[in-house]
Amino acid sequence: MGSLVTNSAAAPHSIPHREPLVDRFGRLHTNLRISVTDRCNIRCFYCMPAENVQFKPRHEILTFEEITRFVRVVAQMGINKLRLTGGEPLVRQNIDELVRALAKVPGIDDIALTTNGILLAEQAQALRAAGLKRLNVSLDALDAETFRKIARRDGFERILEGLRVAQQVGFERIKLNAVAIRGITEAQIVPLAGFARQNGFELRFIEFMPLDADGAWDNSQVIPGEEIRRVLETEIGPLAPLPVVDASQPATDFRFIDGGGTIGFINPVTQPFCGDCNRLRLTAEGQVRNCLFSTEEWDARALLRRGGQDEELAELVRDCIRVKKAGHGINSDEFLKPQRAMYQIGG
Ligand code: 5AD
Ligand code: SF4
Repeated sequence: MGSLVTNSAAAPHSIPHREPLVDRFGRLHTNLRISVTDRCNIRCFYCMPAENVQFKPRHEILTFEEITRFVRVVAQMGINKLRLTGGEPLVRQNIDELVRALAKVPGIDDIALTTNGILLAEQAQALRAAGLKRLNVSLDALDAETFRKIARRDGFERILEGLRVAQQVGFERIKLNAVAIRGITEAQIVPLAGFARQNGFELRFIEFMPLDADGAWDNSQVIPGEEIRRVLETEIGPLAPLPVVDASQPATDFRFIDGGGTIGFINPVTQPFCGDCNRLRLTAEGQVRNCLFSTEEWDARALLRRGGQDEELAELVRDCIRVKKAGHGINSDEFLKPQRAMYQIGG
């Protein structure tokens, strides 16, 4: 959207050109997901162990300056969209300062953040003021008991309050992410959709992926997005597909034909969307990954801390993108679960 205009408007410090991040399959990478911490204030079973989590010591986590330097370099290679994730990004102190610094990087025109919402009421205003444009809030259940079963901590009411405050301070089109888990969240599907319709949120159902810390994932726990869509059509009303605006976005979006809002489906297991993937990832300790399911990482932190040049950093990222696989292969016999769980990668 108007990126040429944005670039020329920024002409005084125009973006130095570096070779764009195109992989062997012709996928151009324009999107970076940055995990800012592996810590979290809850313990969703699909992402973290229940107890005794070994968090990385502070000195192993990239500083805001290091993250910003990394972003400056990849922005020169065509990255224009950022998403901050965790762990839970809002448990990192002064995260609004990082947003403010990243918003100033030439070439970055969109910054989003994925949060569990627990600390949102306190921080929404500051994030908005810092230049955060979009928010995704995880909400898998609409009752406190099911929430607790998944998150293994309390916090449901705080999330609802966080959502209210986020709307009040001006965040629009807030997305709700609901991971669907067989045997646990079936009864949440219709209430979540009703809640989203009533309050103007865009709800997206996400298929449970093998990124849990205990390695307990099993295909039988996945509720296919198609099944959820049929439930919604039967229980609420017909859905019509929305035109695809951005082929690389993981969600397939629909709207209720009565005008009551949109619903998206992220179906990584039953309908992999790797063919259009444009995402690069940076973990909290500065490891670069080309996929959620990547089994290899490139150590940007070591390079940053030994005083490496920008061009070396660019080359490291190119190396990572160069060997990106065609897809995750969750459904193949050769699939290898990554060593890291979701909280150690960033969603
Ligand atoms: N499968 C699917 N989604 C997951 N998330 C975390 N772990 C998993 C998993 N194993 C989701 C969270 C959050 C986003 C960052 O990723 O619910 O919305
Ligand atoms: Fe925390 Fe998000 Fe993982 Fe849940 S999914 S434990 S909220 S990092």
